[in-house]
Amino acid sequence: MSTRAAVAGKIIVGDTRYEVVEAIAEGGMGSVVKALKKGADGFEKIVAIKMLLPCYSTDQKFVGRFIAEAKLVANLVHENIVQIYHLDKFRNDYYFVLEFVDGVSLFDFIEFHNKVRLVLPTNLAIFIVSRIARGLAYAHSRHDLNGEPLNIVHCDVCPHNILINTEGLPKLTDFGIARAKNVSGDASLSGKLPFMSPEQANKRAVDFRSDIYSLGVVLFYLLCGRNPRNINGSLREILEQAKSNYINWDCLPESLDDEILTVLRMMMATDPADRYQNTSVLARDLEYYIYKDGYGPTIVTLAEYMAQQMPALFNVPKLPPVKSNTDTVKLSPIVPEKTVVLPDNFFNTEIRDGDKTVVMPEDTDFYSNDERFTDA
Ligand SMILES: Nc1ncnc2c1ncn2[C@@H]1O[C@H](COP(=O)(O)OP(=O)(O)O)[C@@H](O)[C@H]1O
Ligand SMILES: [Mg+2]
Repeated sequence: MSTRAAVAGKIIVGDTRYEVVEAIAEGGMGSVVKALKKGADGFEKIVAIKMLLPCYSTDQKFVGRFIAEAKLVANLVHENIVQIYHLDKFRNDYYFVLEFVDGVSLFDFIEFHNKVRLVLPTNLAIFIVSRIARGLAYAHSRHDLNGEPLNIVHCDVCPHNILINTEGLPKLTDFGIARAKNVSGDASLSGKLPFMSPEQANKRAVDFRSDIYSLGVVLFYLLCGRNPRNINGSLREILEQAKSNYINWDCLPESLDDEILTVLRMMMATDPADRYQNTSVLARDLEYYIYKDGYGPTIVTLAEYMAQQMPALFNVPKLPPVKSNTDTVKLSPIVPEKTVVLPDNFFNTEIRDGDKTVVMPEDTDFYSNDERFTDA
């Protein structure tokens, strides 16, 4: 028997441990921490770990779908997609090990622009969206080993789920998770309403064209710093706007030319049949727009822009944890799924480097009784 055949099916057993470095964010589905994956003889790799909230881990229907979706996207390897390294379980709790992205979410990036009254240059906005379109085009066109299309749909393309690293590389995260959430029992919708396609808001079947729509809303948002819908109203009002595809085109700067407006209108058409029917054609159109006259924006241009506008991102070693969900409510409310009440002083929590002890105020049980954190 050849060596190849002899080793097939054998199990390699190791001892991987993760040491928490710091909390990154508290999201709708769980906490995200930066951690060091420890290997033999001092080997260390920086990773991000997303721990599902216990309420999700105990929901059997959700977990089943969640695992199915995680398996579907496990082998997505593309520079514009945050890579999933591993899905693991400790006792009943699931956690994802992900590529760590040292950078900023697109939401925080635009919030920053709005705060300092800066408008993102049009070319950079289109560049960011063209990169995410490439990541989506790759995901949308995946096939299984039998050549059958995997029909991957992200279902939650929005600025919170797009990260830009300090090298200027935009990356889409949270793949397929919204679809898992959609079967979690109650009739709630998941995904961010202000970015949701009409068919998703109307609870009709969705395919990749729903992601194209949401990416169109992201482009709109980058071009003018605000959502095309009136998102200051109630969730019900925003849902109605999503269902009827209300778009306030007047928000866009008058300087935008017809060429990019045509692309945007196609992305955000009410009927999926009127949108791009192929994500790579969309990516091509966006790239053509920024590169047709010669040299256009690249990841280096974007990184230089970020270094210039947001030097703190590059110089300050430790940013305070971002309360992403609270921030979301201000600009782009999400549909509440399962409400998780965190103690008021949650973000005073200290995670001490080195001993990995989680220090929580008394009477809290989020991390302090959490057996996933251990000193051993
Ligand atoms: N792989 C990662 N590397 C660095 N930061 C991350 C990573 N994944 C998520 N984050 C940060 O955590 C926030 C919330 O993560 P996300 O996965 O979108 O959670 P949720 O959708 O459940 O709120 C993101 O907006 C980002 O700031
Ligand atoms: Mg997310």
